[in-house]
Amino acid sequence: MNIVWNKTSEQFHLYNDRLSYIIGVAPSGELANLYFGKRIHDRADFSYVLFRMGMPNVVVDADTESYSMELNCQEYPSFGTTDFGAQAFEVEMANGSRISNFVYKSHRISQGKKEIKGLPATYADKTEAMTLEVTLADTLAGMELILYYTIFEGYPVVARHARFKNVGNSKVKLTRALSACLDFPDQNYEWMQFSGAWARERIPEIKKLSTGVTYIDSRRGASSANQNPFVILKRPGTDDFMGEAIGFSFVYSGNFIALADGSTHGRLRFVMGINPDRFCWPLEKDECFETPEVVIAMTDRGLNDLSQTYHKLYNNHLVRGKWKNTPRPILNNNWEATYMDFTEESILKIASKAKDAGIELFVLDDGWFGERNDDFAGLGDWVENPKKLPQGMAGLSRKINALGLKFGFWIEPEMVNPNSNLYRRHPDWVLSVPGRKSSLGRHQLVLDFSREEVVDYIYGMLHKVIKGSKIDYIKWDMNRALTEVFSVDTPAERQGMVAHKYVLGVYSLYSRLIKAFPNILFESCSSGGNRFDAGMLYYAPQAWCSDNSDAIDRIRIQYGTSFGYPIVSIGSHVSAVPNQQTGRVTPLDIRANVAYFGTFGYELDLNEISDEEFELVKKQVEFMKENRALVQFGDFYRLRSPFENDQAAWMVVSEDKKKAIVGFYCLRSNVNALPGFLKLAGLDPDKEYRMEGKTYYGDELMNMGITLSEFYDRGFTISKDYDSFVTIIEEV
Ligand code: DGJ
Repeated sequence: MNIVWNKTSEQFHLYNDRLSYIIGVAPSGELANLYFGKRIHDRADFSYVLFRMGMPNVVVDADTESYSMELNCQEYPSFGTTDFGAQAFEVEMANGSRISNFVYKSHRISQGKKEIKGLPATYADKTEAMTLEVTLADTLAGMELILYYTIFEGYPVVARHARFKNVGNSKVKLTRALSACLDFPDQNYEWMQFSGAWARERIPEIKKLSTGVTYIDSRRGASSANQNPFVILKRPGTDDFMGEAIGFSFVYSGNFIALADGSTHGRLRFVMGINPDRFCWPLEKDECFETPEVVIAMTDRGLNDLSQTYHKLYNNHLVRGKWKNTPRPILNNNWEATYMDFTEESILKIASKAKDAGIELFVLDDGWFGERNDDFAGLGDWVENPKKLPQGMAGLSRKINALGLKFGFWIEPEMVNPNSNLYRRHPDWVLSVPGRKSSLGRHQLVLDFSREEVVDYIYGMLHKVIKGSKIDYIKWDMNRALTEVFSVDTPAERQGMVAHKYVLGVYSLYSRLIKAFPNILFESCSSGGNRFDAGMLYYAPQAWCSDNSDAIDRIRIQYGTSFGYPIVSIGSHVSAVPNQQTGRVTPLDIRANVAYFGTFGYELDLNEISDEEFELVKKQVEFMKENRALVQFGDFYRLRSPFENDQAAWMVVSEDKKKAIVGFYCLRSNVNALPGFLKLAGLDPDKEYRMEGKTYYGDELMNMGITLSEFYDRGFTISKDYDSFVTIIEEV
């Protein structure tokens, strides 16, 4: 890993074993991208890659030999001079002009990585990463801009963000401040996005790029289930096992945009950052604005390799604290078992049975506070309901602990029901426009987390409940989009800051709670997977992946999620049948065989299942305890896509390649078809492995594959809907 500055050519070369990122000061004084891709040798001058030909409509000036930004790859372009593509940023000066010219001023190369104040970001110590900060200045605007680039040892990754500072005497406005731009000299790419809606999140969609604009965004206040802030650009033909691809993962949980712009000259631009729609950040003298981070990863070895890069990077350099690289407790959550209709007694009955099954953590979901007996009331009143918890959370946590279980509970701190004491006392604490009707979502309004006093108040209430009890886990929910985004406490010219300040408020509440209670395991949730993003993982190392707990749908949802997010971050539970979202009836073993590939737990009352099923649950819990370290932190491979087949398969392999676990699922029967083979991946070709009592070489398992008929002995046939198996492969 190194960052080289060549003073004569004014070029930077960031490289490690796998990638090179080359940046140069262009004839315009701005930064041009000279190369991004597989590692290449360094050389003193790469400026031969700049085009000074073609037919640009406008050029920088007479001295620059017809250099036009439009024909060359830029690092962080603006609009209004010689580039007509999507701009990375826009500054509006006091006189209304929106033209800028940020030129190279200085730079700094350092070991390690600095944190981004108030925002989630990857981190690394001095031996693990190097950072380049390039300062650009626009003297007329009185502005400085710093572009940050971090390269990590051993990862084909560059993390980027930007920081603006008003160093002049007049006010300016940032009307667009994206985190990164990456230009490519050709457009032969496919765009892969992860889209969906409530209960069917992160479904991969692929489009061929060409000229013109392709984009996804969120304007819902949260990153959203509709579009995930993670996009892959891949070469046509790239699949899970081979080919080139570049991933862009936004470490942020609010409104975002990801956009590809193919110019008619053949250049392709990709930009990502906070959604500029309605964003406006005024900067007074000496004020700064720092963008969130985009993590760019590349591969020339297929999408499994790209995903593994994100899994490892996020497990080692994003997730922090006690739960970093720690296998997660197996939990039982009461939501689908009771909804809000419970008493302390009924909860203890469920918990006690969970303990008998070997489960380690009990989670009390929504309904324990205020007048919360349905979703019309109580949100915002974070005080125990004495009818349900006569001795409060403290009493219940003691009793659950006495059973031998850890204990955690549910909160939704960002919201308030109009029917709540909090709203009656502070009706102006919500996002709303005076004189206009406020839209409701699940009968609730959104608290104005852009205001410190609101966040302070909620912190105080939650702190009291947590402090008085023994809490090991918190599920933090967020169940509606932001609408009528207006803060009554904010002057007119600062309203464009509110949506981002809201997200900063959420992050600050997380930070304060984590600081006060560093051992608590946070699980984020947003009507399931409505805010499953890298920003959240910095605070909450796992996320409830979807409210859809049906095993068959979950295969698709977890498969899609695995492209950008670690397996250990995927909240996945076994629930009752008929499934409460889909009505589907699936066997208990496929429900567990899917849920193993995540955090694992149960979302049902184990008193309600048969004795035979309960015995099976005990075995499932035991299996997960034995194998969770491998499943949650091993190298994950997607083997067969549920989007292209009636079957799906995936596997994890230990780092030393001595052990692997394969999951195979039949989504839909395939009567009278040959069972076929399943080719494995990631094993050592020369090692001999044992699987189901027989031995095979790694190369056999990866090239010939598993004969699926082997599993007929275990009752598995691919001619039955919802058949599945999980099998262990171990070095002999
Ligand atoms: C939505 C979540 O996704 C569910 O798991 C559950 O916690 C409910 N909210 C509770 O209101």
